[in-house]
Amino acid sequence: MQAPPPEVLYEDELRFLESWDSGRRPKGFRMTARAVVTFLVGSGGEALRPPKGSKAKARVIEPKFVGDRALVERCVVTLVGERGLLLVGEPGTAKSMLSELLAAAISGTSALTVQGTAGTTEDQLRYGWNYALLLAKGPSAEAIVPSPVLTAMRSGSLARVEEITRCLPEVQDALVSILSDRRLMVPELSGRNELGESPHVEHAAEGFNVIATANLRDRGVSEMSAALKRRFNFELVPPIADAKDEIALVKARTLRVLERAEAPLEVDDAVIEAIVTVFRDLRLGRTEEGFAVDKPSAILSTAEAVGVASSLGLAAAFLPSDRELLRLVPGYLAGVVTKDDPKDQARLLAYWDGVVKRRADAEQRVWRTLYELRGLLET
Ligand SMILES: Nc1ncnc2c1ncn2[C@@H]1O[C@H](COP(=O)(O)OP(=O)(O)OP(=O)(O)O)[C@@H](O)[C@H]1O
Ligand SMILES: [Mg+2]
Repeated sequence: MQAPPPEVLYEDELRFLESWDSGRRPKGFRMTARAVVTFLVGSGGEALRPPKGSKAKARVIEPKFVGDRALVERCVVTLVGERGLLLVGEPGTAKSMLSELLAAAISGTSALTVQGTAGTTEDQLRYGWNYALLLAKGPSAEAIVPSPVLTAMRSGSLARVEEITRCLPEVQDALVSILSDRRLMVPELSGRNELGESPHVEHAAEGFNVIATANLRDRGVSEMSAALKRRFNFELVPPIADAKDEIALVKARTLRVLERAEAPLEVDDAVIEAIVTVFRDLRLGRTEEGFAVDKPSAILSTAEAVGVASSLGLAAAFLPSDRELLRLVPGYLAGVVTKDDPKDQARLLAYWDGVVKRRADAEQRVWRTLYELRGLLET
């Protein structure tokens, strides 16, 4: 299976955490709030003990989300309450990953997902119909095709709406009544009884909530209706703050990509460090030494850095040659940087002529090689 979801990938950890903490669970949660936070940020290297009488072994929980623990705690607390959670941020800051991990830990599935696009319709957030059944029998409960959101309401799970701001605002607004009333009307199934109209209502079971994500580069959250905004708690997910943490994460993720391809890790630490440093300098518009850099408009997220580092590893494994791996960096980097704005290439060259040159002049080996390869950026 490519890209197994977290409930499959971390099945053992999740089962362990469900029994590890005997504290009070929020309604509809499969584990305590503390266990959910531990699943996301890890146990800090400590081996957690299973409850007394359990045959399970003590285990260390690996960190998955690199970032502020308080942010994760706020997310979990929001999901205990009656408001939805909206994760906003630059592309590639792990918003989708966070929402999948939260859904896997809290509901046991991250699969109840609607992918927001310009073509998303209300049916995809509410329900559709099985037309064969509809024509044969008329509107009936069996003929309803529930959306992932309706399935989550029925089963008391978390529904995920990815890239919510890419949906048209009037489509997004289908969530307003679901989030505030916690129920969904199906007018087609309403009947009449002796007291008059008897509406068909689908009620949300305990545990139901919505996690949405929104990318700040797409149509903005500012275009969401005020009514919908009020039904979400917003959390800004920032890029990884610390350079060392980002380097470690990129290395770990690259290793995972290469493991899947059954390729050895032949990218050395100095190369990964250089890649992450270039990405951070260009993303932040400032180097670690404090020099200002003209920022390209292209997206230079951690996820893209993982992409470049993995490509080097794959190249080493499948197209082996005597050339130094570092020689491939400018080519991949140019591919990332020159995606939308032609001026970005000039910005990359300016970075090379300023920062990379300065580091090369200071006799830093990796940077000297990179500077010699400047010509590869010009094509
Ligand atoms: N803080 C972080 N902790 C752990 N992994 C991270 C972090 N930031 C980025 N990553 C890496 O980046 C990858 C991309 O993350 P993801 O797709 O969840 O981003 P996103 O914010 O949803 O992006 P987009 O806005 O483009 O949808 C993750 O799978 C992970 O490898
Ligand atoms: Mg995403």
